[in-house]
Amino acid sequence: MIGFHRDGATLLCDGVPLDRIASAEGTPLYVYSAATIAARYQAIDAAFAGCPHSIHYALKANSTLAIARLLRALGSNADANSSGEIDVAMRAGFAPHQIVFTGVGKTSAELEHAITLGVRSINVESPGEIARVNAISTTRGTRTKIAIRVNPDVDARTHPHISTGLKANKFGIPIADVPDVCRHAQFMDGVQIVGLHAHIGSQITDLTPLANAARALVALAREVGSAGVRIEHLDVGGGLGVSYDGKPVPGAAEYAAAVLPILRESGLTIVLEPGRHIIAPAGALLTRVVDVKEVGGGRFGVGDAADVRSAAEVGGSERAQGAERLFVVMDAGMTELIRPMLYHAFHRIEPLVKSDAPLVSCDVVGPLCESSDTLGKDRMLPRPQVGEFYAVLDTGAYGSVMASNYNRRLLPAEVLVENGTWRVIRRRQTLDDLLALEP
Ligand code: LLP
Repeated sequence: MIGFHRDGATLLCDGVPLDRIASAEGTPLYVYSAATIAARYQAIDAAFAGCPHSIHYALKANSTLAIARLLRALGSNADANSSGEIDVAMRAGFAPHQIVFTGVGKTSAELEHAITLGVRSINVESPGEIARVNAISTTRGTRTKIAIRVNPDVDARTHPHISTGLKANKFGIPIADVPDVCRHAQFMDGVQIVGLHAHIGSQITDLTPLANAARALVALAREVGSAGVRIEHLDVGGGLGVSYDGKPVPGAAEYAAAVLPILRESGLTIVLEPGRHIIAPAGALLTRVVDVKEVGGGRFGVGDAADVRSAAEVGGSERAQGAERLFVVMDAGMTELIRPMLYHAFHRIEPLVKSDAPLVSCDVVGPLCESSDTLGKDRMLPRPQVGEFYAVLDTGAYGSVMASNYNRRLLPAEVLVENGTWRVIRRRQTLDDLLALEP
């Protein structure tokens, strides 16, 4: 059994008990399953086997070097969204021709960097950016491969903050303008249009918008092709979602079944930029209870198991008897994982070792000075005790990469579980690391 699973009371990662890892490395701690990363990468690769394709893992989801290296070893290429991600990709061993460079606000310095390296393609976002790529490239006597990022005006039906394919969003060139933009760019000395690109959003669990975007790209390729533009690839971006609550969602095979028949008609190579689908379920954030607070019930102190009735007895959702709210204060919060606060994202929160304590309804909160610092509201948990370890599941994507130093908190450590053991792939930040930037 790979990934995060329970053996009796104990939560394991690839067979290794997580409480052992948490005790040894401390919390907050990100833990990743190498076997899960491999399986999920390979599932996408296999699903698209019927068509020439290349997978460019979206580093923005998680670019810890060991994870980038692992994906490279599996055969992945890279999608970078900044100069920093390009450099991380190179340090992880990716060659420039394995990197596509996306991003809505690439600075001239970033463009120069990508052009000098000779990345596979710069996914350009606007006519202005094409002109800048052209100017830099002609000065350097080179021709840069670009893919036009198309805004297909397709509703991804996901959270508005992570929806990118509507014309109201800042991303890409409106689809109706693309033929004209291509006709113009086609005669520039410093650019070569090699692809069309669309990324309509993230955490997409309804395949229809993804199929619609694919259809729009194929039709557009035909149109610009007949005007003499020689497209080599269609880049369908990332976006395929995962299940955060355990309910079934489409996987790689269903995704491929929905888009491949459409894409294959183009006869072009397909570029994929998956991030979340590969890495989200491969990671968990481990945290420890630092305090348990009952508020509003007129009782103070931690109480004991006899104070509360089981969830079954109270009908499943009643809070601890006498308490209006039971706050379980963790040593991780919005600084380690901002998704619940930013997108109201749901992540399962589970004890590493399940106790027999009765289930109580809890608000699981972080230690920061913000009321929004809540990891999960109204969660039924075996009455938590100070010192117990918990896991916040499916946090491999957009977890550690979005962490911050707010309240001068230090970035958590990260470990990779591989072949029955684990190793630290990023040590915990120290205050000296943080203050090294300040004279
Ligand atoms: N390609 C492009 C151009 C993108 O903008 C993104 C994600 C991806 C690929 C990868 O998408 P994925 O396969 O991971 O859905 N922080 C948010 C997600 C932001 C996604 C941004 N772009 C979250 O925590 O949900």
